[in-house]
Amino acid sequence: MKLYNFEEIIDRRGSGSIKTDVLPERFGRSDLLPMWVADMDFRTPDFILDAIHEVCDHGILGYTKCPDAYYASIAQWLQQQHRWEIQPEWLQFLPGVVKGIALCVSHFTQPGDKIIIQPPVYYPFRSVPEQLGRTIVNNPLQEVDGTYCMDLQHLRTVIDSNCKMLILCNPHNPVGITWEKETLQELAEICVENNILVISDEIHADLSLFGHKHIPFATVSDSAQANSITLMAPSKTFNMAGIVSSFCIIPNPALRKDFFHYLKATELDQMHIFAGITTVAAYRQGAAWLQQMLAYVEQNILFVQTYLQQHLPLVKAVIPQASFLIWLDCRKLGLSQKDLVALFIDKARLALNDGSTFGPGGEGFMRMNIGCPQAIVAKALEQLRNACI
Ligand SMILES: Cc1ncc(COP(=O)(O)O)c(C=O)c1O
Repeated sequence: MKLYNFEEIIDRRGSGSIKTDVLPERFGRSDLLPMWVADMDFRTPDFILDAIHEVCDHGILGYTKCPDAYYASIAQWLQQQHRWEIQPEWLQFLPGVVKGIALCVSHFTQPGDKIIIQPPVYYPFRSVPEQLGRTIVNNPLQEVDGTYCMDLQHLRTVIDSNCKMLILCNPHNPVGITWEKETLQELAEICVENNILVISDEIHADLSLFGHKHIPFATVSDSAQANSITLMAPSKTFNMAGIVSSFCIIPNPALRKDFFHYLKATELDQMHIFAGITTVAAYRQGAAWLQQMLAYVEQNILFVQTYLQQHLPLVKAVIPQASFLIWLDCRKLGLSQKDLVALFIDKARLALNDGSTFGPGGEGFMRMNIGCPQAIVAKALEQLRNACI
C-alpha cells in the first residue's frame, strides 16, 4: 500500500490561499501562524492532481460534460463509507455547499420565514439566511460534561408556524460531534410534525475520528428520508475546496423534481471542467489516503490534548468526533472575548477562528485547525504557551 506523507510543509503564502493571504485584512497583521479557514495544509492527493494534469496536458479547456462515472462513483462511495444506498437519480451537482444552502433557502422559503439553526455553528448558517431576508431562530446546543447535545425539548418550544426550515450540521462544525441515530430520529419527527424542511449539511461526513461513525440524516427514518435535502462534497475530505464541487441528495421525488428543475433552469447544475473528474478520482481512488490522513489528524488531536493538559491546563480541547477542527475552551483564562482574541493574535501570533462568530455559546472559545503537519501544531502551541506566561 502506498504511504502518504503528511509531514511535508508547503508554504502557501502568496498562492492566493485565503488562509495565508488575507491575514492583514482579517486579523490586522500578517505575521500569524494561520490555523483558521477549514482547509488542510496537506498536499492534495496525487490522484486528484493527476486528473487535473491530464486535462491540462490535453490542451483545450472547452465546455465539458459531466463524466459518465460521476453519479456512480458518488453512490459507491456513500455505500462504502456510510452504508447509504442511494439511487443515482437522487443526486445533483451543486456549485458549493454554502451556495447549496443559499439556493435551498431562496427556493423553499420566503422572505420573513423563520429558519432554525443550532449554535454555536458554522457562521454562514446564520449569515446566508439573514442576508436573504429570513429570520434566524436559535436552538442552542446544550453543553453537558465537556461535550454537546441537541436540546430537542427547547426546539419544540421555539417552533411556530413561521418556521419553515432547519439547517442541520452533521457532523457539527465547530464542536465536532457526530450525531447519534436516536437524536436524528427525534429531530426528524419534530420537523415532519411541524412541516419544517431539513437541510443537512454533511460536508464533514467522511472525517469521523476515534471510531465514531457518521450517520447520514436521511438514513435514520422514513420521515427523515422524505423531508430532507443532504449536501455533501469531496472538498474537506480530500483538501480540494478550491475546486468547488459538491452535490445534493434528495430521495423525496416531489422535492427533487421541484429543486432539480430550478437547478436546471438556472444552469446551476452545470459543472466546470475540473469538478467532475476530480470528484470521480477522489471517490474511486481516495479510500487509503483518507484512512492515513485521519490517522494523522487523530495523532495531532491527541498531541494538542496532551500538550494543553501538561502546559496550559486553563485551555481545554473539546475532542472532536469528526474533522480537523478543535474547539478550544478558553473560559478558564477569565478573559473577555476581545482580550481572548487579542491574546491569540497580538501575543501568540496565531490566527484562529474567534468562537463568538459561531453564535451564542461560542464566547470563551476559539476554533483551531490542526489539519497540518504536527511540527506546525507544536509551534502554535509553544507560541500560545509563551503568550500565556
Ligand atoms: C459545515 C460546513 N459547511 C460548508 C462549508 C463550506 O462549503 P463550500 O466551500 O462547499 O461552500 C464548510 C467549510 O468550512 C463547513 O464547515
